[in-house]
Amino acid sequence: MAKILGIGNLVLDTLLFCEHYPKEDAEVRAQQRQFKFGGNTANSLYVLSQLGHQTAIVTTLATDDQAKHLKKALEQQQIDTQHVQRFIKGATPTSYITISQQTGSRTITHYRDLPECDFEHFAKIEIEDYDWLHFEGRNLEALGGMLNIAKTFLSHQPISLEVEKPREGIEGLFEQANLIIFSHHYAKAKGFAEGAQLLQAIHHQHPGKQLVCTWGEQGAWCMSHQGELHHQPAVKLKKVVDTLGAGDTFNAALIHHLIAGLDLKSAVEQASQLAARKCQQIGLDNLLSPLVTRKPIANLKHITSARATVVPAPGLRHKVVLIKHDNEIKAYENNCPHQDVPLDEAYKIDINPFEMTMKCSVHDAFFRIEDGVCVEGPCWREELKPVDIEVDSETGAIYLADMKKD
Ligand code: FRU
Repeated sequence: MAKILGIGNLVLDTLLFCEHYPKEDAEVRAQQRQFKFGGNTANSLYVLSQLGHQTAIVTTLATDDQAKHLKKALEQQQIDTQHVQRFIKGATPTSYITISQQTGSRTITHYRDLPECDFEHFAKIEIEDYDWLHFEGRNLEALGGMLNIAKTFLSHQPISLEVEKPREGIEGLFEQANLIIFSHHYAKAKGFAEGAQLLQAIHHQHPGKQLVCTWGEQGAWCMSHQGELHHQPAVKLKKVVDTLGAGDTFNAALIHHLIAGLDLKSAVEQASQLAARKCQQIGLDNLLSPLVTRKPIANLKHITSARATVVPAPGLRHKVVLIKHDNEIKAYENNCPHQDVPLDEAYKIDINPFEMTMKCSVHDAFFRIEDGVCVEGPCWREELKPVDIEVDSETGAIYLADMKKD
């Protein structure tokens, strides 16, 4: 276990999970909304604290209610907030983030008017108490000074620097870091088509550093102190659920494995694994617990239009009624809106293939198969509750969708 100090951003993330990324000027309904703390450093520290390290953040906080929630949320995740600088001027920085359920992509709209941490505040921190310092490559006004004192006062503690975007003057700071983690945004902005070329150029100018460049689906490149280049292919994923914070997870895992004594190449390999794990789940919670593999609730080959198939649905209050309609699988909660009873309570669910309805066995309410609307009976015009399902076109397995509507 190491003591790690992270210097960077803390943000209130508002996450909207949408079926797909909306078109400009469209109005769409999100399936779920979550509020979380975010910001690259805060996210990386959260992962590092899950990996068993003692973490502390150097960042700024406003004095509004949202800031109070953020501070509490950090502390709940064992991230020490004693080095937070408070500002009366400015509000809690916010990110509005649309996560597409189709691709797992995250589109971020960020707003901030809160000042960033100043040099004088940083200079008062006993940085010698920490085993590793991780800086976000932002706040260039103060970052140079901060890296300078870190380099001057620390004897053996590594300094890592995350370079996500090009910022004027950032290259002048590379010499102060031991490990520099570049993103493909930076590489592309500098005219590089691949991580390898960027790392070669940086190594040429700043020999002796550990260098990493992450490139999403193309994996990551790394270069050791001695200039050994390695490409780590990305882990192939069947389904990407949420990529928000995947880079921050990668950085945390990289630092963790270097602290554990792995060489750079192996640490990058491990970091890619954890980042891949992150992409398969929503959020950063419980990243180390084994991935819960989804179990199918049924298979296409057993579902016909002649019969309503009722199957248990783990995690849902009711079983699910599955029936084929126009080459599509319809799924409804097995619960009659009339009296809150299963449709098959008294007898099986009868199908009328001509009217294309199915009948509740208790009080003979007829529901349209197409949309679950009651067209005759005691709960006329009320509806069966649809259930979101996903069908694996290769195997025919039917799953409950990841995001359930409330
Ligand atoms: C993810 C993230 C979010 C935050 C945004 C800030 O990497 O840190 O949590 O809103 O990026 O740029």
